[in-house]
Amino acid sequence: MAQSETTSSANFFLDGNFAPVAEERDALDMEVRGTIPKDLAGNFLRVGPNPVHIFDEAAYHTFDGDGMIHAIEFGDGLAHYRNRFIQTDGFKLEQERGDWIYKGMNSMMDTTPSRVPVGEPRNKNLANTAFAYHNNTLYATHEPSKPTAIRLPDLETIGAVDFEGRLKHPFTAHPKIDQKTGEMMTFGYAFQTPYVRYSVINASGELVHSTPITIEKPVFMHDFAVTEKYTLFLDFPITLDIERLMAGGPALDFEPEHGSRIGVMPRFGTDSDVRWFEVETGSVVHTANAWDEGDEIVLQASRSKTSDIASAGLDAENLQDTQGHLYQWRINLKTGAVDEQLLSEVKCDFTRINDSYACHKTRYVYAAVFNPTRPFTFDGVMKFDNDTETAITFDYGDNRFGGEAVFAPRLGAQAEDDGYLICFVQDERLGQSECLILDAQDIGAGPVATILVPYRVPYGFHAGWVGAA
Ligand SMILES: [Fe+2]
Repeated sequence: MAQSETTSSANFFLDGNFAPVAEERDALDMEVRGTIPKDLAGNFLRVGPNPVHIFDEAAYHTFDGDGMIHAIEFGDGLAHYRNRFIQTDGFKLEQERGDWIYKGMNSMMDTTPSRVPVGEPRNKNLANTAFAYHNNTLYATHEPSKPTAIRLPDLETIGAVDFEGRLKHPFTAHPKIDQKTGEMMTFGYAFQTPYVRYSVINASGELVHSTPITIEKPVFMHDFAVTEKYTLFLDFPITLDIERLMAGGPALDFEPEHGSRIGVMPRFGTDSDVRWFEVETGSVVHTANAWDEGDEIVLQASRSKTSDIASAGLDAENLQDTQGHLYQWRINLKTGAVDEQLLSEVKCDFTRINDSYACHKTRYVYAAVFNPTRPFTFDGVMKFDNDTETAITFDYGDNRFGGEAVFAPRLGAQAEDDGYLICFVQDERLGQSECLILDAQDIGAGPVATILVPYRVPYGFHAGWVGAA
């Protein structure tokens, strides 16, 4: 099946299936191997960078690309593929000009005069990173920015949201939604004090609580965690340093001497309520989940011992040291002791759970399995069982690489893992993009359905699932 051509570039992030696509398309009646389950109803979503106007191709970084959503709408055993640009203000400005306006993170020190029009934001809200679905609204997220509301199922951009002017800080790509209370917890980090701010948005979409969180110096805090009672902040040592950047060094760097600590605060607490627990030094990009267990808090995340893959980028001297493992911290609030445990030897990230159980105890974690030699590349998917402490993996096969797999509950689901794992996979030898649907209770059996997408789906960042109402 013909797909749009990949292009080759000296820049890893513009080469092969990392290269962007130019067209927005729809596809129905796609070729399917196997059978799309009839009890799968809703929208599978995947967002990622898809740059249009690039200031400097050699300096381009994948974190700079304009957000594009690739989605498949499921119902009655049928599938409808769509891909759409996210029409952020910065994207529209560049479309109107027909050329670059924003330079990108690796070109911050470039002396080319700015093209950002007076009165427009100095930084582009890319909306390219992940999704959150709260109060019947789908958001595409980008951690330096405000969340961008997207309409389903047509993927039309509604626009950036500031919760009636109450959101005063950047909004993490990974807010946590407690489906039992309907609350959405979020935070943002910045180069300036307060380095971290945290907010709670209630079930009807009102921002009802906000507080600064004091940490010693700014760090790359991509994710956090929330339990039924507590919110957890990860002050880990990927530091942000403008002076280091001005001196020709990296803006982000692993500084082990900074140490690692987890801050624990009641959900509606303030800065002075935070208790900090020192832990073994390491890096975390993504948490899986956290929950309360008696006097203890359990946190599970993908953790690496040194710099993580996001901050190390392509320059990692030893790629495998930057690739995380599933790891657990058990924090005893009574004794102050923290017990740490490696849960699996499988190198993984893009940790996911059944979102209905977020902030509450979960038995299963799903994660993308790293390729051992090529950065930003995943060979398969893992399901970790906390009860048996074992991991099962499904490998996509030779020259086949996938992205984040998201859990979609079956209609009428009876158990935490009663549903499907869905992800896009690229067969690089055939140049074929596929959407795989795996039975989450038997991932080793391989896909129950493989949809051959007639257009190329580039590698991207996070996935999401919004079930049919
Ligand atoms: Fe992320």
